Amino acid sequence: MKTLVAYFSASGNTARLAKTLADAAGADICEIRPAVPYTAEDLNWQNKESRSSIEMRDRSSRPEIQKIDVELADYDTVFLGFPIWWYVAPTIINTFLESGDFSGKRIILFATSGSSGFGKAAESLQPSAPDAEIIEGRVNPTVNDIKVIAAM
Ligand SMILES: Cc1cc2nc3c(=O)[nH]c(=O)nc-3n(C[C@H](O)[C@H](O)[C@H](O)COP(=O)(O)O)c2cc1C
Repeated sequence: MKTLVAYFSASGNTARLAKTLADAAGADICEIRPAVPYTAEDLNWQNKESRSSIEMRDRSSRPEIQKIDVELADYDTVFLGFPIWWYVAPTIINTFLESGDFSGKRIILFATSGSSGFGKAAESLQPSAPDAEIIEGRVNPTVNDIKVIAAM
């Protein structure tokens, strides 16, 4: 069985980390792409009416994603990466988990943030992949942390 790094990144930080982690883990990599990309204004968390504010206020929002080009059945471990938005994972990560069958897989979370930890990310993702084992890796990992995650 193989290992996959799947990630969403709106402004590049998580994308850079995902590539480093995929190299360290010898994993395949796949980007979770929004059907409609996020603009800078969409990401303005200080504006209550910005797209990200509206989506994250409604935790049942499920922003559409582009078709994923990997065969999930080939993987038993998925490293799942995202930026922390409002102390959790962006709801587009729920969209991703609900778009495939993750039962029996290990999902190891990694994230970037301004300073927050995982908060309630694992808790808010579990209902979208009820039969997967969701494990917290690291937020803003150091070079050494990346080695630790890659070996999980
Ligand atoms: C809508 C939004 C909400 C955010 N909420 C948090 C937060 O709750 N805590 C935090 O430390 N950083 C927060 N950030 C900062 C991002 O987590 C951080 O910049 C991250 O590295 C962005 O990753 P990306 O470049 O892969 O999109 C937020 C950023 C955005 C755009």
